[in-house]
Amino acid sequence: MPITIIAIESSCDETAAAVCVDGKILSNFIASQKVHEQYGGVVPELASRAHMQNIVPVVDAALKMAAKNLPSPVFHLPSIDAIAFTQSPGLIGSLLVGAQFAKSLSLALDKPLIAVHHMQAHVLANLIADPKPSFPFLCLTVSGGHTQIVLCESPVKMKVIGETIDDAAGEAFDKSAKLLGLPYPGGPLIDKYAQQGDPNRFTFPEPQIPGLDFSFSGLKTSILYFLQNAGKSHVYKEEFLATEEEKKHFVKDNLADICASIQHRIITILLNKLKKTAIQTGVKDICIAGGVSANSGLRKSFEENGKKYGWNTFIPAFEYCTDNAAMIAITGYYKYLAGDFADLSVSSSARAEWREGC
Ligand code: KG4
Ligand code: ZN
Repeated sequence: MPITIIAIESSCDETAAAVCVDGKILSNFIASQKVHEQYGGVVPELASRAHMQNIVPVVDAALKMAAKNLPSPVFHLPSIDAIAFTQSPGLIGSLLVGAQFAKSLSLALDKPLIAVHHMQAHVLANLIADPKPSFPFLCLTVSGGHTQIVLCESPVKMKVIGETIDDAAGEAFDKSAKLLGLPYPGGPLIDKYAQQGDPNRFTFPEPQIPGLDFSFSGLKTSILYFLQNAGKSHVYKEEFLATEEEKKHFVKDNLADICASIQHRIITILLNKLKKTAIQTGVKDICIAGGVSANSGLRKSFEENGKKYGWNTFIPAFEYCTDNAAMIAITGYYKYLAGDFADLSVSSSARAEWREGC
């Protein structure tokens, strides 16, 4: 009998549901919350309220879409085998909406519940489509809240071997964009403007962090000073301080080159550590994942590095890079095969330490 999983993702500001059968995604539905744009970031209270409004129509849409894509005429959706949901990490009010919905569904259908770690799911987005990486593989997971290098020995056995000690790569993109006066989330906009710019026009420093860990807070500070000095220096210099008017003009006249140079530095920080990890571990199958893996510059440089160093590279399709429920469904499928079910009393958690693996 095929194994059918329905999955729910509600960790931040996307309400998402997906259905997968034997690891094949039949539907993947996302409602993005536009309400946060005017505030320049996600407002937790508004996110929870929007999830409450969206969750029923989103699950309904995912079920209907799946019904249209059924693999065989004899198969029908009431034969759901388990309900997977994002348990952690994320905004607690947002997580609770998805968790409560999943628990109610589990109780009503009398089917098991599967609690999924959001970061494990980002990694396993690489197992949705063919060709898939072989185990063991490395994954550079770059999102709005995390930057990690994960060593994956199986779908359910992975270990974080490097991570950021301060800001995440997505935060570096979003905070830089905010300094440039761009709206939230700024990552995709920096990507867009960078495509017309010169990545070598301005140089931002690369932090010297030992081992496989990352740091992005120094970059943010150097961008702040660079803009305060209207491009004359990226360290604080009283004599270069520009007026608000001069700053605005400098950004307007050089936006594409500034975006390309910032993006270039974020990408080199990420890929230099990935290169170091590949040499240390000897692993050749390497993936990227998470919202920042949608970045066109990162995708291109990652592929180029793969060719240069003999890696087999894997990148999820765009719709599986940023938050989605298909990645929760695929993780739910592998957890189902491993018999890893959750109790109805399982609690959601805003933070979930993961260095020791799962
Ligand atoms: O994985 P994700 O959707 O949510 C989290 O789990 O955090 O990642 C969101 C992050 C945001 O910081 C967003 O700006 C960034 O991914 N992002 C991008 C791009 N698309 C999304 N950053 C750079 N370039 C992009 N094209
Ligand atoms: Zn995410």
